[in-house]
Amino acid sequence: MGRSADAPTVVLGVTGCIAAYKACELVRDLQRRDLRVKVVMTEAATRFVAPLTFRTLTGEPVAVSLWDDEPAARVHHISLAEEADVLCVAPCTANVIAKIAHGRADDMLTTTVLATEAPIVIAPAMNVHMWRDEATRSNVELLRSRGFIIVEPGIGELACGEVGEGRLAEVATIGEVVEREARCTQDLAGLRILVTAGPTYEPIDPVRFIGNRSSGKTGFAIAERAARRGAVVTLVTGPVSLPDPFGVTVVRVTTALEMRDAVLARLAQTDVVIAAAAVADFRPANFAGEKIKKDDAPRSIELERNPDILAEVGALNDGRMVLVGFAAETGDLLEHAHKKLRDKHLDLVVANDVSDGSAFGGSENRVVFVTHHGTEEMPTLPKWRIAEEILDRVRDAVQDRP
Ligand code: C5P
Repeated sequence: MGRSADAPTVVLGVTGCIAAYKACELVRDLQRRDLRVKVVMTEAATRFVAPLTFRTLTGEPVAVSLWDDEPAARVHHISLAEEADVLCVAPCTANVIAKIAHGRADDMLTTTVLATEAPIVIAPAMNVHMWRDEATRSNVELLRSRGFIIVEPGIGELACGEVGEGRLAEVATIGEVVEREARCTQDLAGLRILVTAGPTYEPIDPVRFIGNRSSGKTGFAIAERAARRGAVVTLVTGPVSLPDPFGVTVVRVTTALEMRDAVLARLAQTDVVIAAAAVADFRPANFAGEKIKKDDAPRSIELERNPDILAEVGALNDGRMVLVGFAAETGDLLEHAHKKLRDKHLDLVVANDVSDGSAFGGSENRVVFVTHHGTEEMPTLPKWRIAEEILDRVRDAVQDRP
């Protein structure tokens, strides 16, 4: 397959499980993305697929043992580690995840993983109980917290005959993530970006609150991608069950008033505000210090307006900051989005129709970008792709600033 001379290099690690055969398809997928692929296998992987298969598919030598003849003057695992623009382990067994998490380096693959400075993408594949095991859970979280990118396994039929989570993610999904990392540039370097995410909880009494169904996924994806692209990122988030994105300063708050204070306190050090939070518009006017008893329950709760954080930021902006807002509407989407753009003095509104509830919690969404220059309808995309598209527009808006 012809490739451009400057095609980025992917070092693909293949480990010993039945999904190893899917790595052959992955090689092809990556090559179709104009990426150069070099394969490293564990001993166990060679029991499932012959190195010759990968050698033929890639046209490159396949590394298995640390003790092979050196094909070049350099120590091979170090030269591979340096050559990689991305290192991807797919499929990755529970054993190799454990070894990587604990810094073991006892074969060609794990040595290369330890030696590389490139981003590392891990696509696990294993039996559902192995995937759910405490040891695997904590190893995966350890890797995530160190900046490893995990392409979550899917749910489906497993080789052992069980049905459950643990099946290698789709080849195209892994390919897309690997390509993203291989072509990731530091185009946001020097920008200080503040992102808000998640819902806010407005307390009624010590145990009850008014909230909403925002999962925080979009805001977290924006923060994560912005940091990978070189920005200095602060994420102010309401209560969500997502782990801190790698390389991001996370400020966790509960109420709209706390979120407002956290945002306003950081504006002097901020170039871009991306307000993806679903801030509650109202809060209970009175907070009951004690849990309200069933029998004393009021028939209605008096509400009071919360401050509109983004509108305040818009009013304070002297033109220096680029501001992005979200519009989740069930009615006339575009009309509301345009009104928001004007009223809150924004540069971009990301509008989505939430009438069928599909935007909440899922990993995909369909949005429309609304700017002062017009509207742009996007197809259904993973939230991380939407994050990248938003950040492209933020970068362009910053460049257009006088
Ligand atoms: O006016 P509406 O609440 O629909 O606007 C949504 C946008 O404004 C989102 O970007 C949201 O993060 C932001 N917002 C805010 N403070 C509020 C309400 C919304 O920053 N109190």
